[in-house]
Amino acid sequence: MDLRDAYFVDGVRTWFGKSRQDGHYWTTRADDLVTKVMKELVRRNPKVPWDEVDDNIWGATTQVGDQGTTMGRVTVLTAGLSDKVAGFSVDRMCAGGMTCQAIGSSFIKTGCADIIIAGGVEHMAHHPMGAGADPNPRVVTEKMVEVKYFNMGNTAEKLHDWLPENGEQPVTKEEADEYSFYCLEKYFKALDEGYYAKHCVDMTVFSPTGWKVANYDEQAKRGTTLESIKNLRRFPFKAEGRVTPANASGLNDGACVSLLMSGKKCKELGIKPKMKFVGAGFVGVDPSIMGWGPVPSTEKVLKNFNMKFDDLDIIELNEAFAVQAVGFMKHFGMKTPVDPRLNPYGGTIAMGHPLASSGVRLSMQLAQDFELNPKAKYGLTTMCVGLGMGGSIIWQNVVGKKI
Ligand SMILES: CC(C)(COP(=O)(O)OP(=O)(O)OC[C@H]1O[C@@H](n2cnc3c(N)ncnc32)[C@H](O)[C@@H]1OP(=O)(O)O)[C@@H](O)C(=O)NCCC(=O)NCCS
Repeated sequence: MDLRDAYFVDGVRTWFGKSRQDGHYWTTRADDLVTKVMKELVRRNPKVPWDEVDDNIWGATTQVGDQGTTMGRVTVLTAGLSDKVAGFSVDRMCAGGMTCQAIGSSFIKTGCADIIIAGGVEHMAHHPMGAGADPNPRVVTEKMVEVKYFNMGNTAEKLHDWLPENGEQPVTKEEADEYSFYCLEKYFKALDEGYYAKHCVDMTVFSPTGWKVANYDEQAKRGTTLESIKNLRRFPFKAEGRVTPANASGLNDGACVSLLMSGKKCKELGIKPKMKFVGAGFVGVDPSIMGWGPVPSTEKVLKNFNMKFDDLDIIELNEAFAVQAVGFMKHFGMKTPVDPRLNPYGGTIAMGHPLASSGVRLSMQLAQDFELNPKAKYGLTTMCVGLGMGGSIIWQNVVGKKI
């Protein structure tokens, strides 16, 4: 083990709620979701000297109200860590949490830190996408972005058109629906086998109907058939379009946290990490096809770290929309609608997408995938980002490796 390398030790998430009045977390604060996962991380890792955490880094897209007051700092206090622990917040929209992991790992690799908490949160019920934003009028008047592409669903409709017009293989509505069906199927199989219970924490919450326990992902519809997906006549973004609620990620509330540590600290504390951070890549793309982002960001990180796509044994890709996931698979020559390497235990279309949190969810799943697949050497977490970006992180499996 390289003592100055950065390692993923553990991750915890809340179950994801639906962003509506009868959803799990309607009356729960975003910073309380963060506090809950941080406290669970502390409980699960008693060997860690928590007062020695160097930084508590949190991604959130809308940093006002219960996502304001600099989430990274305020939750040091609410989670009961020493007030000597520093904290800050980051916004890269959907890739907020993923960016926190890249920053935290870089801090570790450059000797600025040994122990980092990196997470992401989004309470989309309290902070609907774009609420309160005041986009620079020049962006629209000078046609930098057509106003309709501030809505992510419209970018997914455009991606359906853009792929065949740009030398990529087309993705039909039928393929997007089929992909979504298998995503749900893989998710429920994994759920029933206890996969998700390993990294999700139940939370007792007050709701308009009294106290209850948030102990499942509210969005996932058990018993969904391929026919019901295909026959869903709801086209929220374009009349007779291809994107429906069944082949899109939802509107969700949730928090995800991870613990990153230097090899030196792992060794000193006798902690067995699960993954080594190899490197991250972030890119911009035309905002009107933001779902394409993971393709160039993956190509960038592979190039920078001298790797090939086939070196990746497992890929955890955030499915903002099925078209984007299938487009990624086709570009890299994967088998559709199911390739055993991609999202083997289900994905976003099943469990939901509380924006800035999702990148961290991908990492905790990849760590668990590595535990279940010891032969896997390398994995990828990757996601598209609003206003046209992509983010990718390569991780190396170190489960069971000697420190
Ligand atoms: C697509 C979207 C507009 C749907 O929102 P919604 O209408 O609130 O979604 P709902 O969950 O209420 O589902 C709508 C309907 O579809 C049905 N439905 C959803 N998933 C289904 C499935 N798998 N099979 C069958 N029906 C399904 C629901 O039951 C509901 O039906 P009802 O109205 O008869 O109850 C919303 O989820 C969205 O905007 N998603 C994208 C989020 C996004 O852009 N994130 C950022 C990415 S970068």
